[in-house]
Amino acid sequence: MKKQLDKTQSTYKFSTKCCHAGQSCDPRTGAHNTPIYQTTTYAFQNVDHGARLFSDAFDPAVGLQDGFIYTRFGNPTQKALEEKIAVLEEGEAALAFSSGMAAISAVFLLLVKPQDHVVADNSLYGTTRDFLVQVMEKFGVNLSFVDFSDLDQVKKALLPETKVLYCESPTNPRLKCVDIAQVAALAKTIGAATVVDNTFFTPYFQKPLLLGADVVVHSATKYLSGHGDCISGLAVGSQHFINELRCVVHNNMGGVISPFNAWLVLRGIKTLPLRMRQHEENALAIANYLSDHPAVEKVHYPGLPSHPQHEIVKRQATGFGGVLSFELKGGYEAGKSLMNKVQLCTLAVSLGDVDTLIEHPASTTHAVVPREDRLAAGLTDGLVRLSVGIEDARDLIQDLAQGLLSSQNGV
Ligand SMILES: Cc1ncc(COP(=O)(O)O)c(C=O)c1O
Repeated sequence: MKKQLDKTQSTYKFSTKCCHAGQSCDPRTGAHNTPIYQTTTYAFQNVDHGARLFSDAFDPAVGLQDGFIYTRFGNPTQKALEEKIAVLEEGEAALAFSSGMAAISAVFLLLVKPQDHVVADNSLYGTTRDFLVQVMEKFGVNLSFVDFSDLDQVKKALLPETKVLYCESPTNPRLKCVDIAQVAALAKTIGAATVVDNTFFTPYFQKPLLLGADVVVHSATKYLSGHGDCISGLAVGSQHFINELRCVVHNNMGGVISPFNAWLVLRGIKTLPLRMRQHEENALAIANYLSDHPAVEKVHYPGLPSHPQHEIVKRQATGFGGVLSFELKGGYEAGKSLMNKVQLCTLAVSLGDVDTLIEHPASTTHAVVPREDRLAAGLTDGLVRLSVGIEDARDLIQDLAQGLLSSQNGV
């Protein structure tokens, strides 16, 4: 019967690990797929067994290793997912959450306390920034937002109280990229932790822990689950960090992933390499097409040699991902018109779905943000974000072509 992969010694390649890591045949029934363990609680063998599980679980030096107590503290389907992502990100351990935001907020709640300081990139995913400003600041954590593509700015922002350097690479929606190894090296000089949101590239293209980061977080809602059908999050780091995250924050805050969603992410990851290759191939074809289009002012895609961090990405990642954005010469009206004309691309938020999703921040997600604030964040009137799916690129290009023709003609 298939045995579970040994986390540390496996020499299997990434695609093989996507299929097999964390999963083994059920020893009792032989079930090949990890079952959805739809249970809240677990029977102890006897009183001593229960007592040992509790004392292990609440000791971060030990952690819950052999057995389960209650699904808020862990579940076998969730455990399979945690072991899989830990193997893929090449971290010691991982913890699954009900959403990416649950994972990100839990990591901050563990790493910082009042009077500590966080240095974060100035173009983070909006809700991550809102969490820092609306929640962390309220509890006395000081924040500096700087441009992480400029290491001097990061260096100047560091204080003796800085505990976390936080970034995404690439960022949303301008696809700015960060030299993760350099940021992690700076963090180490002051004993701060580097936390990287790896949602856009996934470990298929980029492994921040190997570049020196301490913690990786994911909105598994996106590429990892891949089919736009489940909200979920993950954090990966050292075994001790994850043990503490589980017993100090996660158990007390309760943002647990459901067994069914854990199973959906497990299933999604099995095809991650196939999907990521296709997302990237399509994104590159569309980026090249748009670069030559008369209605397009500029294309932001790390795979284009014109991208300001193209060389850094070539060095630290094995590909360029499936999200791009572009600016329309016709500004706001052209963006709105394109949104109304596309037929194959779906006008919707989120990304990393097998289907192509398109959005125009100025007229939709950011319509309520004052124009000057929107422009200061790089969200120009004509900016469009495309999460390129795995459809045939020729059909996507045709859809964009007809949409752009109408928007050019002001229809
Ligand atoms: C880069 C990034 N990080 C985190 C999140 C939050 O994840 P979730 O929606 O799963 O809470 C998102 C959501 O869009 C995201 O794009």
